Amino acid sequence: MSLDANRSDLVFGMVGTGAMGRGIAQIAATGGCTVILVDSRAGAAAEARDHVAKMLGKLAEKGKLTPEAAAAAIGRLKVAAGMADLASAHVVVEAIVEDIAVKQSLLRELEAIVSDDCLIASNTSSLSVTSIAAACRLPGRVGGFHFFNPVPLMKVVEVIDGIMTEPWVGEALTVLARRMGYVPVKAKDTPGFIVNHAGRGYGTEALKLVGEGVADFADTDRVLKDAAGFRMGPFELLDLTALDVSHPVMESIYDQYYQEPRFRPSPITRQRLTAGLLGRKTGRGFYVYEGDRAMAPPPKPGPGGWAGSVWVVPSEGGLAVAALATKLGATVETGDRPSAQALCLVAPLGEDCTTAALRHDLDPRRTVAVDPLFGLDGHRTVMTNPVTEAKWRDAAHGLLGADGKPVTVIHDSPGFIAQRVVAAIINVGCDIAQQRIATPDDIDRAVTLGLGYPAGPLAWGDKLGGGKVLAVLQAMLEITGDPRYRPSLWLKRRAMLGVSLLTPEG
Ligand code: NAI
Repeated sequence: MSLDANRSDLVFGMVGTGAMGRGIAQIAATGGCTVILVDSRAGAAAEARDHVAKMLGKLAEKGKLTPEAAAAAIGRLKVAAGMADLASAHVVVEAIVEDIAVKQSLLRELEAIVSDDCLIASNTSSLSVTSIAAACRLPGRVGGFHFFNPVPLMKVVEVIDGIMTEPWVGEALTVLARRMGYVPVKAKDTPGFIVNHAGRGYGTEALKLVGEGVADFADTDRVLKDAAGFRMGPFELLDLTALDVSHPVMESIYDQYYQEPRFRPSPITRQRLTAGLLGRKTGRGFYVYEGDRAMAPPPKPGPGGWAGSVWVVPSEGGLAVAALATKLGATVETGDRPSAQALCLVAPLGEDCTTAALRHDLDPRRTVAVDPLFGLDGHRTVMTNPVTEAKWRDAAHGLLGADGKPVTVIHDSPGFIAQRVVAAIINVGCDIAQQRIATPDDIDRAVTLGLGYPAGPLAWGDKLGGGKVLAVLQAMLEITGDPRYRPSLWLKRRAMLGVSLLTPEG
């Protein structure tokens, strides 16, 4: 079987015309398909057509679409009187309620209406495409076509093969995606596919470090935005998606991967969900909201400069810290050992301040760690150990903030904040590649377009250095004993071989 998804008379059935269905209908219509809208709620399909017509009108007003193209697309939207109107469809996409039994029953009903060569796709985000298709007479024609919300702005779609999906289905959906102006990424039918799987590292690791008392929500968000370059902090993001949506997803992915420690959810979100602190939509989540504005507590002010003697560990990161300390007015000691009055600075990868101080045989009371991995030009993170004296903590804070750059002081943590969160993301991305869920290029494309991260996990690992990311994870594993930090074999082998993390298996 095959389908020419570029045929000019393509009839596209859209079942379920809620938030997602409307968006998909819009891009199918602008992509030149005749779109038949079906919804089980009376009047919903007509409302969806009116909504899409309004959106297309706005695009035309903004000059993003010619008035003729908008009018033609609106003319291609047809409201069905009932499911029977789908008989002529070449492709039907469903975006109805996320319930396996309801989806299976819809597909059985559809199969009695459409022709045997009609492609059927599901926009499911969390159900198995294989299990949705299992209810069908012809499961080979069923695939996943997973768009992101809001569809017209999120230009990527996951094309998912269930176990029984025939190759022509993925091929046709890929062509159809391109016809609609979308970037298709191919994924195997696995929990979370690519994007919702790759997104596990961010929130879960941030919650883990907050749970350990390393930093508070606001400081964690600040560091990840300013130092690592994320557009939104993990807690801002959790507030936006709302805990009644995101906590169940965290639990579901964890359980579907049979309690994979990398995805272990946090009691913090369970408790806050129970308390009704859902996020923006309830006015209070991790932040309190006034309208759409988060009332973030202001950063703690620094002591404002310091210029004494500093001894810096002679590692690669340490050299950069020493250069900065000199620039900021400190006297950097050059001896093998610190003098009795020196502030001791370490710049570890994956180690906590305690371990680094002891490994270098330094006085832990005078030792403070500085995160070297994301550069020292912008936001700087300094980390104490349990016995660092306040005087030396303030000295490091004052020195590193002497040029007015923001400094966040955190408690001891293997991998600071940014190292551990970014390493977790890279590790999960690598494991998606290892499991052959998607190609390395598609993983990076899906993550940058679907999650808006500053880089795809594999390219990001290359930029930071695969060996460094491996070192972060190995140290974290060693110090915590927690298997969530075990490096993916994809990462380990490529870092050991000194090749790009984007290197596919030969
Ligand atoms: P929604 O609740 O906004 O819309 C669902 C629509 O389906 C409603 O209009 C409802 O009347 C209709 N419907 C329900 N059962 C039906 C049936 N048996 N036959 C015909 N129509 C039926 O839901 P939303 O958010 O659009 O989600 C739809 C699907 O898309 C779900 O599978 C969801 O997991 C998936 N999805 C949702 C995303 C989101 O952010 N909202 C993102 C990606 C996928």
